[in-house]
Amino acid sequence: MEKLARPVIAGNWKMHKTISEARHLAADIVSQAASLSQASLILIPPFTAIQEVKKTVSGSHLLVGGQDLFWEEEGAFTGEISARQLKEAGCDVVIVGHSERRQYFGETDETVKKKVLAALRHELRPIVCIGENLEERKSGETLKKIKSQLENGLFGLPAEDFSQVILAYEPIWAIGTGQNATPEQAEEVHSYIRQLIDVNYGQELAACAIILYGGSVKPANAFSLIKEKDIDGFLVGGASLQAESFMGIVSEACRADEG
Ligand code: PGA
Repeated sequence: MEKLARPVIAGNWKMHKTISEARHLAADIVSQAASLSQASLILIPPFTAIQEVKKTVSGSHLLVGGQDLFWEEEGAFTGEISARQLKEAGCDVVIVGHSERRQYFGETDETVKKKVLAALRHELRPIVCIGENLEERKSGETLKKIKSQLENGLFGLPAEDFSQVILAYEPIWAIGTGQNATPEQAEEVHSYIRQLIDVNYGQELAACAIILYGGSVKPANAFSLIKEKDIDGFLVGGASLQAESFMGIVSEACRADEG
């Protein structure tokens, strides 16, 4: 799989946008993205719009992703979607273990692992989401939660597989709430994740690992977050639904990179 340049900014559109709305948004983003080609940009529309978005971004440097996948190759699994189907529709990337999947649809660290392996079999780069909820943060259990999610969901993978994974630290209390983690709070967790990768896979892989922050990222806070040493980009929800705010985040992230 192709190496991704930092910063990496992914827009998770969740259950928003019809096919035509998705085409318009993708076209707006493409037209503004040419001057910011140093960033790796990933658009993650709902399944129904993947092909249309792929067509719209073709010829640009933008990548397209899926929001989830099932681990089986094919079969009687009503409502599910396979890695092969995503790949053929134009995806290079897929989100796995988003907290909304964990919270509402029974995703566990075990299913995350199966999905990561299925994605990798088909050359889809997984963006694996981890993060604590508000009670865990309040009771000082953030790092413990992060460690157990990584150990149960990912650290059994061979180094070659793990090196393809993008991690996204997304504190659940910051998602869709308008309340982002402070740069210090986010950096504490990001540097801890990098240390754990170092312990499990060695320094070289730890240095190359891409660790995104997600949770109420917007143009106004993107610069201070990306300035942190271990924050390599963002997984953006709400602010990715409009070209202006998404590209505002991208240009803030690139500005930090230059300075
Ligand atoms: P948000 O969502 O940016 O709307 O907080 C982030 C996410 O769920 O990935």
